[in-house]
Amino acid sequence: MKKKIQNVFKKFLISALPSSERARYLAYLPKLREWQSEHIEDHKIFKKRYGLYEYVNSEIIKEVPIDYLEFGVYKGRSIKYWSEKNGNPGSKFYGFDTFEGLPEKWPGFISTIDKNHFSTDGILPHTEDKRVSFIKGLFQETLKSFISDNQFHKRLVINMDADLYSSTLYVLTNLDEFIVPGTIIFFDEFSSVLSEFRALEDYTGSYLRKYRLLGATKTPNDFYSHIAIEIV
Ligand SMILES: C[S@@+](CC[C@H](N)C(=O)[O-])C[C@H]1O[C@@H](n2cnc3c(N)ncnc32)[C@H](O)[C@@H]1O
Repeated sequence: MKKKIQNVFKKFLISALPSSERARYLAYLPKLREWQSEHIEDHKIFKKRYGLYEYVNSEIIKEVPIDYLEFGVYKGRSIKYWSEKNGNPGSKFYGFDTFEGLPEKWPGFISTIDKNHFSTDGILPHTEDKRVSFIKGLFQETLKSFISDNQFHKRLVINMDADLYSSTLYVLTNLDEFIVPGTIIFFDEFSSVLSEFRALEDYTGSYLRKYRLLGATKTPNDFYSHIAIEIV
């Protein structure tokens, strides 16, 4: 009887409730608070992402060569920053992007960013640094063959700046075999709860991954937009 009532109630909710991105967003916000109380311990706080990059590069990575994989390059600001700051000749920097912008719209609570936003009309960033290369196309079409053509023996640093849930989750799950203790992962729009935050929660939950928070950005009106974690 109880089950029958439950099912009638469920049927009613399915027909009565709107499928609302905004409602989903609101339902996810408290999870961010939970995450903060679980992970916010004695990590470093920065005002801008470049302070966080600087700290991780000089204090955590130090002088060792790295394999730096960036997902979401656009005009190349973050990948150029990393290649300029990390001068180790053994380091390699790989930037993945369609260079035609977001493959789908990116819904937020207040506004939605359109598909193709961040397009550079297919133009790749220019750099003289031979350690940097770009992989053009959807991650879903380029990552698997990149993985089969490359070995990662150096410390792996992943910079997730693709904004979308689908893109972020796809990358993390496909890189799982290379994500080992010591791997560092940045998230550039972490407080976008239905996107990068949800992707990290779903990835680490399903693949039983544990991590520690290395640092984050925080200003009075900011909720940890940029974070760096280390897999333990
Ligand atoms: C916010 S921008 C990157 C900004 C850049 N890291 C910077 O510091 O200026 C996000 C980028 O992710 C790319 N992107 C998102 N999902 C993608 C996917 N599935 N495949 C390829 N590129 C993707 C978009 O084309 C866009 O250029």
